[in-house]
Amino acid sequence: MRAAVVRQWGSIEPGELPEPAAGPGEVVIQVEAAGVNFADTLLVAGKYQEKPPFPFSPGLEAAGTVLRCGAGVGRVKPGDRVLAMLDRGGFAERAVAKESDVYVTPAGMDAATAAGFPVTYGTAHCVLCWYLRVQPGETLVVHGAGGGVGLATVECGKVLGATVIATAGSDDKLALARAHGADHGINYAREDLRTRIKELTGGRGADAVFDPVGGDAFDASLRSTAWGGRIAVIGFASGKVPQIPANILLVKNITVHGVYWGAHRKHRPEKMPEEFAELFRWYTEGKLEPHVSHRFPLAEAKRALELLTTRKAQGKVVVVM
Ligand SMILES: NC(=O)c1ccc[n+]([C@@H]2O[C@H](COP(=O)([O-])OP(=O)(O)OC[C@H]3O[C@@H](n4cnc5c(N)ncnc54)[C@H](OP(=O)(O)O)[C@@H]3O)[C@@H](O)[C@H]2O)c1
Repeated sequence: MRAAVVRQWGSIEPGELPEPAAGPGEVVIQVEAAGVNFADTLLVAGKYQEKPPFPFSPGLEAAGTVLRCGAGVGRVKPGDRVLAMLDRGGFAERAVAKESDVYVTPAGMDAATAAGFPVTYGTAHCVLCWYLRVQPGETLVVHGAGGGVGLATVECGKVLGATVIATAGSDDKLALARAHGADHGINYAREDLRTRIKELTGGRGADAVFDPVGGDAFDASLRSTAWGGRIAVIGFASGKVPQIPANILLVKNITVHGVYWGAHRKHRPEKMPEEFAELFRWYTEGKLEPHVSHRFPLAEAKRALELLTTRKAQGKVVVVM
């Protein structure tokens, strides 16, 4: 089958891979579209926590139609339109997923939107509801708010009743975050984050911070969080892993929570159907409006990844078959 294939670190090219088989409890999906995540750029570069043997295809989420089901699969059947989280392999005509990672696509959601839905909204929902425990009326800062997981978090934060302060490195991305519900925007390329967050919260600081960027954004968060505030460490898109001075945590009773959603799914599988049921309900009620900024054909998967590393993506980028 056709795929975007990695045969050495740092290189992804159009090629062929063997047909995947559906083992017990697994589902083979005829892929229509695959979501592109920052983690794919790390996977291709050999900088991700998992380093698969060559050759492999990246792609951690996909949408399409169930083609084959392995032994014991009961939740979906051939012909169902589904979206799925994948260990990898979404940048290919067919991909294999664990049955527990496959959900029937909500009515009215097109394949490109569905392909870019599970990782970003799944992470946003999990972090806001189960780790940051955002309450109505609280102030939530979302860093990198024009990116995939950032924009999904802006929307979920609004559904939960928070006042959302979006931060990004360009006015375009802030305009997008505002169009998706953000109450305020801070351009960290030219404004001081700490000063602006304090101003926007009347000097109190933010109750909760969602940080997929790290580096300077994290450092500013620590210094502009309210007493008793919570910070979720989601990723380091800036390339800088922050160091945490414990004295600041102590003085302000701050909680810093690391969240790797992939691990959360493994350790709390029973929570996933509940999480997706709520997200699909929000989508069906029109409370979520996923934004796909770019679609690339499979043969141009490399360009899709470059859009993320050059910070040109807005919301989600997808690869379509
Ligand atoms: N922990 C988890 O379970 C989990 C789940 C999903 C994603 N993540 C992590 O969250 C981060 C964002 O993922 P994503 O898929 O949403 O990526 P994305 O769409 O590319 O968004 C990343 C955002 O980070 C900002 N950024 C700042 N410095 C950057 C740099 N040097 N290079 C690239 N982007 C930079 C960019 O916004 P500006 O240009 O506005 O600064 C960009 O919009 C990644 O670190 C990813 O690994 C973690």
